[in-house]
Amino acid sequence: MSELAPSILSADFMHLGEQLHTLQESGLKVLHVDVMDGVFVPSISFGMPVIKSIRSGCQMMFDVHLMIKEPSRYIKEFVEAGADSITVHVEACSDIGETIAAMKKYPVKRALSVNPGTDVDVLMPYLDQIDMVLVMGVEPGFGGQKLIPDTLEKVKKLDQTRRENGYDYLIEFDGGVTRDNLCEIIQNGTDLAVAGTAVFRGDIRENVRDLQEVIAGAS
Ligand code: DX5
Ligand code: ZN
Repeated sequence: MSELAPSILSADFMHLGEQLHTLQESGLKVLHVDVMDGVFVPSISFGMPVIKSIRSGCQMMFDVHLMIKEPSRYIKEFVEAGADSITVHVEACSDIGETIAAMKKYPVKRALSVNPGTDVDVLMPYLDQIDMVLVMGVEPGFGGQKLIPDTLEKVKKLDQTRRENGYDYLIEFDGGVTRDNLCEIIQNGTDLAVAGTAVFRGDIRENVRDLQEVIAGAS
């Protein structure tokens, strides 16, 4: 069954510990961690010290989404901070093959991401070397945006490609996920649906329960 990955970008950082506890208690297994550098994307979020500190009190899998330029410079640091998987953007790498090679040096799952304007064909040469593809449903940089419908076609195409070639990468979808579009996102082939606003706005426990219900109905 597909899984829900809450993005802590939308969390209340004053109460981050309690909110992580609530997510864990709700049975969620994956935490989506958005790192932004103010260069690849306009905004700046947080980095290694924050990840390291929440890592010590959280048993979820840390799915670290690097929205940073030339991420190969920092793979070691994010692995040491506690990343279980690292996602880099193809648009941010001057050499995608080299960046994958940098990730292969560490015990960490490897993922490539594509912005809404990037064709998935750019991923084709690398699909046998990665564990996951992250399809952005919005321009990266901010939570709370509206999903760009075209991006769902990419999920479909990646799902078809994986079946045709016997690949085993997961498909993750990130940006603009709501209770209303989650079913379609899952049915197109998404394994891991990221949600920031839809999880953290209002009552987290209720939101997670509602989103989990949609996933169960769609799978
Ligand atoms: C956007 C981030 C997303 C973001 C999703 O650049 O990568 O993970 O937090 O937020 P929502 O679910 O509010 O679109
Ligand atoms: Zn993200």
